[in-house]
Amino acid sequence: MTIRPAHDGDWPSLLAMLKPVFSAGETYAVDRDLDDDAIRTFWMMDAHEVFVAERDGQVLGTYYLMPNRHGGGAHVANCGYVTAAAAQGQGIASAMCRHSLDRARQRGFRAMQFNHVVSTNRGAVALWQKLGFDIVGILPGAFHHPVHGYVDAFVMFQTL
Ligand SMILES: CC(C)(COP(=O)(O)OP(=O)(O)OC[C@H]1O[C@@H](n2cnc3c(N)ncnc32)[C@H](O)[C@@H]1OP(=O)(O)O)[C@@H](O)C(=O)NCCC(=O)NCCS
Repeated sequence: MTIRPAHDGDWPSLLAMLKPVFSAGETYAVDRDLDDDAIRTFWMMDAHEVFVAERDGQVLGTYYLMPNRHGGGAHVANCGYVTAAAAQGQGIASAMCRHSLDRARQRGFRAMQFNHVVSTNRGAVALWQKLGFDIVGILPGAFHHPVHGYVDAFVMFQTL
């Protein structure tokens, strides 16, 4: 598998994996009814350095890396990851997260923070913990899950 910067030609593949995730509304605090342009505006925003994971010419995952805050908080990175539904459970997010940690170190970030990991997203929580993140904060009822109602969200952090 190759992880490389995203380019314009990747957009149809990225949209195909992002749209179901956002419209499901179970994992990202993003409006569920974003249209295609709004999804592109969000995922491809200037502040995001966007990568894709590709195998045999197929784009199977994507992540973005950005400073979590401005000014005095700009040395902490933030990322978001999505794997195509058909490619989940094959280690793609693990590889993307490891890549993002390396890239963040390379860019001089001193830590990485995930601001809003939905507590019911157990696979993701377990994966981030395996890759060195701690749950440093619990935000009670901070995410409105379409099935489970108001559930906790976790702030997850690791020093680089
Ligand atoms: C979370 C997500 C990125 C994981 O992607 P993935 O490529 O399937 O992850 P991997 O194959 O690298 O996962 C490996 C590990 O993650 C965990 N994991 C991932 N998905 C899981 C699931 N649905 N159930 C249980 N464990 C899961 C397992 O601990 C697994 O560990 P193992 O290698 O010991 O079996 C993917 O499910 C996804 O895109 N979900 C929707 C968007 C999302 O939730 N993004 C993260 C927001 S914080």
